[in-house]
Amino acid sequence: MPSADHESVENASLNGLEQRPYKRVLLKLSGEVLMGDTAFGIDTNTINRLARELIEVQQSGIELAIVIGGGNIFRGMSGTASGMDRASADYMGMLATMMNSIALQDAIERQGATVRVISALHIKEIAEPYIRRRAVRHLEKGRILVFAAGTGNPYFTTDTAASLRAMEIQADAVLKGTKVDGVYTSDPAKDPSAKRYETLTFTEALAKRLGVMDATAMSLCRDNHMPIVVFDVTTPGQLLKAISGEAVGTLVQES
Ligand code: GTP
Repeated sequence: MPSADHESVENASLNGLEQRPYKRVLLKLSGEVLMGDTAFGIDTNTINRLARELIEVQQSGIELAIVIGGGNIFRGMSGTASGMDRASADYMGMLATMMNSIALQDAIERQGATVRVISALHIKEIAEPYIRRRAVRHLEKGRILVFAAGTGNPYFTTDTAASLRAMEIQADAVLKGTKVDGVYTSDPAKDPSAKRYETLTFTEALAKRLGVMDATAMSLCRDNHMPIVVFDVTTPGQLLKAISGEAVGTLVQES
């Protein structure tokens, strides 16, 4: 396992954050990060760049499992808003995560690394079904793991799937890679005075409804002492920094 370099350790303590070296992490990627600058779907350059960074993580000896969202293809909540049955909309969202997972698997494999997609829904022709002990073995063998289809249940988000899988594989942390470089006091896109938190407690994040993750996902992490790091995965290099334990983004944990 790599250790953070001297400078990063110093930065971490300067920012009041503990050094955060991880052996096994659960990376949650929102589907939107695959869009790059496009308005919909998967941008080839973006997914190839992400795959390259994921492989760097794998090569550094960190065990990496990924849960990917599907919002770049279909958002269950938008379906519901337009009158669709919630469960049907959620299943479509799960299929969207499956498409993203296959695309990510393909991008990683084309760059020569080993990866396995495991699905919470039984689509055996496309991916292995989820078996916890098998998933852990894949990680132990150094394969990147992509969990597709969320939890396999409607009414649960892919954030909740990320928290659940993190617990199940006994990850050291959930890293939530988004388009924003952390958690802010208010929406930085609308409020220029918004400030980024460097650290937060779960209780604070839940009470202030800071939108780190939905309440189910957050409660699961809180109750099982699973820290969450929210960081900007669209900026090249940030993923490796977050995974190496450098102080990027916002760290959410119990005090
Ligand atoms: P071990 O040999 O057990 O370490 O793992 P492995 O994944 O290399 O071997 P396995 O023979 O289980 O799988 C070979 C390939 O088939 C891998 O790419 C798996 O992801 C894939 N695979 C395994 N089971 C299934 C399945 O049920 N459905 C689909 N679609 N693919 C599967």
